[in-house]
Amino acid sequence: MIDPKFLNKFVRVCERAAFGASKFRGKNDKIAADQSAVDEMRSELNKIDMKGKVVIGEGEMDEAPMLFIGEEIGTGRGEELEIAVDPLEGTNFAAKNLPNAISVLAVGEKGTLLSAPDTYMEKIAVGAGLPKNIIDLDNSVERNIKLLADAKNTKPDKLTACVLKRPRHDKIVSSLKSMSVKINFIQDGDVTGVISVVDPKTSIDIYLGIGGGPEGVLAAAALDCLGGQMQTRLVLNNSNEVNRAKKLGITDIKKKYNIDDMVKGDVIFCASGVTDGDMLRGVKDKGDSFEVSSFFLHKSQKVYKKNTSIVKK
Ligand code: FBP
Repeated sequence: MIDPKFLNKFVRVCERAAFGASKFRGKNDKIAADQSAVDEMRSELNKIDMKGKVVIGEGEMDEAPMLFIGEEIGTGRGEELEIAVDPLEGTNFAAKNLPNAISVLAVGEKGTLLSAPDTYMEKIAVGAGLPKNIIDLDNSVERNIKLLADAKNTKPDKLTACVLKRPRHDKIVSSLKSMSVKINFIQDGDVTGVISVVDPKTSIDIYLGIGGGPEGVLAAAALDCLGGQMQTRLVLNNSNEVNRAKKLGITDIKKKYNIDDMVKGDVIFCASGVTDGDMLRGVKDKGDSFEVSSFFLHKSQKVYKKNTSIVKK
C-alpha cells in the first residue's frame, strides 16, 4: 500500500507542472510549454522524501535529459516508488490554448507499473459495472459493440464511442458508423479520452483506437481506481521499437495487457488542468499566486476527489 501521506505531495507536483505549462498557453511553442512543465514537475518531485524512479517519462535516457525512464527522483530517503509522468498531455492544446491540456502522473510501489516505451499502443476501454472481460482487442469492433450494447441492455445506436481523430482509425470509424454508434472525436489527449468512459458527466460508453503507450498506462491507472476496464497492446512497427520495448523488460511484444497487467498494486493518479477542459479547469493567474484544479485518486484508500487550490508562485 502507498502511504496516504503521499497523495497531497503528488497533487502539488501536478499543480506545479500545470502552472509551468500554463505560462506558454497560446504561444505556439509546444516544446517550451512541455519543458516548462517538466522543469516544474521535476523540481517538485525532487522535494518528496522517497526513493522514486521514473518508469514512464519524457523518453528513454539517451533522448530525454530530464524525467527520463530510469531517472531516480526524490530526496533518496523513504519508500521506493515508481512514477509515471506526462508533465504536459496535449502539447498542441497548450500551444494553441485549446481545451483539455493537462498535467498528469501516476505512482505505484516498486515493480508495479508497466514501463511502456514511447511507441503506439492499441487501446480499448469501457466504464464500471460491466461483466468482467467484456471487451477484447482481438474481437472485431462490431463484436465489441454488440457485447457492450447487450450488457447495457441497449442497442448499438444508443452507444457513444470516443475516438482520436487520425487516418489510422478510418476502419474503426467506418465499423462504428455501420452500426450507427455515435462518435465523439477528439483531436488529441487520449488520457482524457479513455477516462471519459468512467466519467458520468460524459455520455461516452467506449474508447477505441491507437495512441501513445505511456498515455495508455497513465489512463489505466485512473481506470483502475474508478473501476473501468481497459485492454491494450503495444504497436511496435520496426526492430528499433521492438528493441526499445525489450530494453524496458518487455519480452512478449504481442501481449494484451489488462489493467492489472499494467498496474499491479496500489496506485495514485493525479491530473491538473492546464487549459479549461471537460474534466478540469485551466490554471488562472492571480498575480503572486495561481489557481489550479486537480483531480486525484488513491486506489487502496478509495479516494476520488476534485479540488481547486490557490498556490504561491
Ligand atoms: P502530446 O501531449 O505528447 O503531444 O500527446 C498528445 C496525444 O494526443 C496523446 O494523448 C496521444 O496518446 C498521442 O498524442 C497520439 O499520438 P499521435 O498524435 O502521433 O497520433
